[in-house]
Amino acid sequence: MSIYFDNAATSSPKPPEVVEAVVQALTRFNANPGRSGHRAAIEAGRIVLDARERLQALIGAEDPSCVIFAFNCTDALNLAIKGTLRFGDHAIATRLDHNSVLRPLSELAARGRIGLTLIDPRPDGFVDPADVAAAVRANTRLIVMPHASNVTGAIQPVAAVGQIARERGVRYLIDGAQALGALPVNVRALRCDLYAFPGHKSLLGPQGTGGLYIRPGVELFTLREGGTGSASDSMLQPKELPDRYESGTLNLPGIAGLGAGCAHVAGRLSQIVSHERELTGAIREGLSKIEGVEIYSPAEEAACTGIVCFNVGDLSSSEAADALARAGIAVRGGLHCAPGAHRFLGTLLRGAVRASVSAANTFEEVEAFLRTVREISVDSAATG
Ligand code: ALA
Repeated sequence: MSIYFDNAATSSPKPPEVVEAVVQALTRFNANPGRSGHRAAIEAGRIVLDARERLQALIGAEDPSCVIFAFNCTDALNLAIKGTLRFGDHAIATRLDHNSVLRPLSELAARGRIGLTLIDPRPDGFVDPADVAAAVRANTRLIVMPHASNVTGAIQPVAAVGQIARERGVRYLIDGAQALGALPVNVRALRCDLYAFPGHKSLLGPQGTGGLYIRPGVELFTLREGGTGSASDSMLQPKELPDRYESGTLNLPGIAGLGAGCAHVAGRLSQIVSHERELTGAIREGLSKIEGVEIYSPAEEAACTGIVCFNVGDLSSSEAADALARAGIAVRGGLHCAPGAHRFLGTLLRGAVRASVSAANTFEEVEAFLRTVREISVDSAATG
């Protein structure tokens, strides 16, 4: 048996057209995009532009140049956070955030460069926009929200917070790590200034890809400067997007695969959302009938991405995840790089097991997973 329920970490399998696009980028179109003027380089540049345009359409951005390619979502978040905050600023984030948000912010706070407020979620696992509004100070320059928790899957009220940020004149960054490709996203409706996303999760692209949406008019300090293939007579970084934030040779195979993944997702987003909801609904319902299983994800399917987070009896999350792995089922145990979320759930010591589905998963797999959890639960009760 081989079942992959670790899609919130990296989606698998990738669609055949993603694999083919990567192969083609390394063979037929293997050249440096945006640099030389020969045919292969021009075609490589076309692949990058196609991927950018697909992402623009998927997120409803104003222009393709609003989409910046990054090494991953963490890289995009670092650019958004460190490219925004200055000495003496105040930033607001949440206890549900991933370390990719918490660590850059905490590093700046620990060096005395910024003030930081972390908002606790309500007992139901959702942040209250009123708590965010109440935390805004005169020197607040940035609000960061996770679109969805990577631990519980709980979809956060990002549009309501966007409204608050816009009214208060505070820059607004959304961490879309668990959302883009799993939910409809429209950056204009969300009123965000910055939206960071990975390529290797729900967009079905390769690892080492991701990006940042930057609203027109929003300026960031650059974290890297270098060759862009444009304005080469100047030693100063160009001001134009996307070049300003994309120094160095781009990850052409990765971007080609990401573009193909994005096309795949864009053509069937509503089926993806409903299938993943049905799968997680079946997982949640099945788990809730197993004695000793505690579920941490919200009960309402529409309030979650394709994640169900739980523990079994007195087992640590790694014992349960290892037992599932021995049965051929891939999940992720531990803290998921989100210590605040686990502190909130009361699982900071034992962690939790996270099953995360993709549209490629089936109800037969859910049944086999539930059978295995039942066996693990019975075994742990017998030995405990
Ligand atoms: N951030 C990824 C996760 O939640 C890797 O698993």
